[in-house]
Amino acid sequence: MKNIAILCSGGDVSGMNAALKRFVEYSFVKGLTPYFVYNGYEGLIDNTIYEVGYKDVAGIIVNGGTKIRSSRSKRFMEENYRKQAIDNLNEHNIGYLVVLGGDGSFKGMKKLSEESNSISFCGIPATIDNDIAGTEYCLGVDTALNVIKDAIDALRDTASSFSRAFVIEVMGRDCGYLTLVSALTSGAEMCLIPEIPYDLDTYKDSFKKQMKEGRKYFIAVVSEGLNNTAEITKWFENEVGIESRATILGHVQRGGNPTVYDRLMAYDFVTHAIDGMLDGNASSVICYGGGGFNYKDIEDVAFRENHIKPELLNLGLEFGQKR
Ligand code: F6P
Repeated sequence: MKNIAILCSGGDVSGMNAALKRFVEYSFVKGLTPYFVYNGYEGLIDNTIYEVGYKDVAGIIVNGGTKIRSSRSKRFMEENYRKQAIDNLNEHNIGYLVVLGGDGSFKGMKKLSEESNSISFCGIPATIDNDIAGTEYCLGVDTALNVIKDAIDALRDTASSFSRAFVIEVMGRDCGYLTLVSALTSGAEMCLIPEIPYDLDTYKDSFKKQMKEGRKYFIAVVSEGLNNTAEITKWFENEVGIESRATILGHVQRGGNPTVYDRLMAYDFVTHAIDGMLDGNASSVICYGGGGFNYKDIEDVAFRENHIKPELLNLGLEFGQKR
């Protein structure tokens, strides 16, 4: 079969549109006919599957989000809806499906691959959380980190002008990657993530000493997964003795004009995904690591626990140490 489709599932990321553009262009290079599935797995069930061409991707590379929309589909967990999805793909003679998403999306893709015998699947890791086992990089992370960097840099202006502590909550679900990298690269004084135990008393002693020595403000970056933003903000007021404000960055972290790195990674991920399926990988995820791309079984990606690299965690351990 010469027809190939792509869908976006789960949280959108900047770089998905660049991936769609590359998908259409590279499909033609490979003699395939490209199709978009709108609304993620929901669209597979509802048959919102359309043949596309160059005009559908013109100008979209600069936009965040995804032109073909995304969803978190509950129906897709049920076998009868997945059967409907496979019937719809077959109706369009689609032999290859690319899925951009996170581990939940890949679990759905695994089920689909077990239940269909004529379709090849390839997942592309795409989540700002960077929490997928087996890949060092997920599409969208660089743009999210840059959005967070800009926000923290701006908050620093107010923190320093007003002698305040700012407690900034960063996304990532239970993974502290975004928080840790953001804290390191924005020169924060405090970084709290689920992966590293922390001792507020040590922070307190250190912060009070620093204030005596003339420090006027603090930047604290905390993971949403800890659910303690309000508590830490109060702690600054009551225990450290400095006026404080909380800023929850929220979904602003998922949007925005994709960075050069994410545009380039989108191109590379899609190229490898299509090449892999044409080479006979029927059910895999294209992962990035050690400076290159490799195909991994869905099992080894979506069903394994992810860990932040030890070298990065070690840098995180320096926060909260006696200074
Ligand atoms: O997985 C991406 C992510 O943005 C997480 O960081 C966050 O916890 C979650 O999605 C938010 O989900 P929703 O967009 O459904 O509120």
